Amino acid sequence: MPNSLEGQVALITGGSQGIGRAVALALAAKGMNLVLAARTASTLEATAEELRKSGVRVVTVPTDVSKLDDLQRLVATCISEFGGIDVLINNAGIEAFQSYHKIPIEKIQATIATNTTGTLLLTRLVIPEMLKKGRGRIINMSSTAALMAPPYGATYAATKASLYQFSMALRLEYKGTGISISAICPGFTQDGGIYEFIKKTMGRSMPFLLRGTTADTVAKKVLKALRTDPPVLVVDTIGIRIAIVWASIFPRFGEWLTHKIAFRYFRRFATKREEESMPSATSSPQKQK
Ligand SMILES: NC(=O)c1ccc[n+]([C@@H]2O[C@H](COP(=O)([O-])OP(=O)(O)OC[C@H]3O[C@@H](n4cnc5c(N)ncnc54)[C@H](OP(=O)(O)O)[C@@H]3O)[C@@H](O)[C@H]2O)c1
Repeated sequence: MPNSLEGQVALITGGSQGIGRAVALALAAKGMNLVLAARTASTLEATAEELRKSGVRVVTVPTDVSKLDDLQRLVATCISEFGGIDVLINNAGIEAFQSYHKIPIEKIQATIATNTTGTLLLTRLVIPEMLKKGRGRIINMSSTAALMAPPYGATYAATKASLYQFSMALRLEYKGTGISISAICPGFTQDGGIYEFIKKTMGRSMPFLLRGTTADTVAKKVLKALRTDPPVLVVDTIGIRIAIVWASIFPRFGEWLTHKIAFRYFRRFATKREEESMPSATSSPQKQK
């Protein structure tokens, strides 16, 4: 990868809001041209307008990452508009916090299709293009849920854990080709994103230990990952990062701690969702292609 990001092309899924928008702003500030993909055309275009003020080129492609046709069209647009993709940020994702025996089967399928399958298929379509150029960077947005899985978040944690191992395996496979892959594992972001949705719904803040980070901090870590090429970056408080290390050595400690800090909050959220048949964050957008 050339040292400067200026003039390179980044494709960001879920680039319209939350963490994806923060990453887009950070990359635009470095002079990168962007392709933004998400389902809702109006939100995508609003974010693109804001980004164009930095003087970079921004193309929006309304895309449902759970649909192969959409992904093929997305990659074709990147090639026709920019001649390729230098950086792929697999960021689109949905949450699925609910009691596992009550969660609708369709919700499990949609979460896997969006968070896991979408990322695996888009990466499969992009890597051949990167190989042609002999370089490329892929950042997969996992979560601390991949490392310390929260109760009532089994489906979500399963998809995020899959992205973590997907990244590690690919990274080794493509070593020496000019292509590299990193996983980013953020904790709760306090300034937008899916956990903000959970907080608003609950009408109360997260337990103190879970109030981990911000979308802007995650965006800065994405820039750091592009600079330093780490296998994984955990973006959370030092306390949670130490807890993750301990939990991997002492699983019963991890289980005790996660239960202590997360169980009551997420049980309440799951109960509220079940009582009110509440939709998920970004689960049913008004598609405006
Ligand atoms: N926020 C956090 O605290 C946190 C912590 C750890 C990890 N993460 C991960 O970070 C990523 C971004 O989360 P966020 O909190 O920023 O969420 P968000 O604010 O809800 O944004 C999600 C983005 O993904 C898009 N999206 C959702 N489903 C899609 C689909 N099927 N196809 C294409 N785009 C889709 C959304 O746009 P449309 O709805 O218009 O499609 C939106 O642009 C997710 O992968 C999430 O798991 C978030």
